[in-house]
Amino acid sequence: MLSFNNLSIHFGDFKAVDGCTFSVAKDSITGLIGPNGAGKTTLFNLAAGALQPTHGRIAFCEKDVTPLTADSLFHEGLVRTFQIPHEFSGLTTLENLMMVPPTQKGESLWHNWFNWRTIKSEEQQVQKQALETLEFLELIHVKDVRASNLSGGQKKLLELGRTMMTDAKLVLLDEPAAGVNRTLLRKLEQKIQILNQERGYTFLLIEHDMEMIEKLCNHVVCMAEGKVVIQGDFQTVKSDPRVLEAYLGEATPESNTSAVGEIA
Ligand SMILES: Nc1ncnc2c1ncn2[C@@H]1O[C@H](COP(=O)(O)OP(=O)(O)OP(=O)(O)O)[C@@H](O)[C@H]1O
Ligand SMILES: [Mg+2]
Repeated sequence: MLSFNNLSIHFGDFKAVDGCTFSVAKDSITGLIGPNGAGKTTLFNLAAGALQPTHGRIAFCEKDVTPLTADSLFHEGLVRTFQIPHEFSGLTTLENLMMVPPTQKGESLWHNWFNWRTIKSEEQQVQKQALETLEFLELIHVKDVRASNLSGGQKKLLELGRTMMTDAKLVLLDEPAAGVNRTLLRKLEQKIQILNQERGYTFLLIEHDMEMIEKLCNHVVCMAEGKVVIQGDFQTVKSDPRVLEAYLGEATPESNTSAVGEIA
């Protein structure tokens, strides 16, 4: 569904992403792991159209989308969440979700003026969808709470909720588990699984929580220093000495197979 072909971005002499080639299969939950500063978020920024690569190509649904902007990609069904949640802090949880749909006709003055009945029914539809999303994420009890007053975990769920207000095909999740307590974390895992299995979302998931990666991901890609170190199933990746080396910064005995989980 999404593929990176020899993708690079240079900031001056620094290669934040350096010749990455890998694919995300349709209907998969693909994990993207790697130590801090490996280039994972930068790769997301490239995939989502927030940055333009120095070299290489990105294909989405078999179409070259390399030059497309974030806005165009959003309309194509490629949606991302942020490592640091981007909520509208002055708006309520419900209002935050109602801001998302990209084609609300209510935003056009002429439309408002001439088609107020259509607008009204569209708004009602959006509100219904937002309320259903909050029910699904078990955030309904905070629907009227200002987003600035939500906990870190609730803000992460709200980020996931934003993706559910769109016709997403592929969702890029940047560290959804960061700052989320264990109970909420298990809930988040379940929600991602349901969205994948029942709603047909494909995910590319950046995460340092190896339990979550192991539980959710069919395929795992490990990056370090801008490059893909290895990819494969979780067990293969986890026990590869190159991965341990990337996390530790040095070669480690082959017997230490749990180090990735412990470090993360
Ligand atoms: N706009 C930029 N200009 C210069 N350097 C940048 C820029 N964006 C990212 N970098 C650098 O690229 C490297 C990769 O950063 P990135 O945020 O992609 O890492 P990451 O793998 O997401 O790390 P983490 O797990 O800590 O979130 C870092 O050294 C970062 O400082
Ligand atoms: Mg990051």
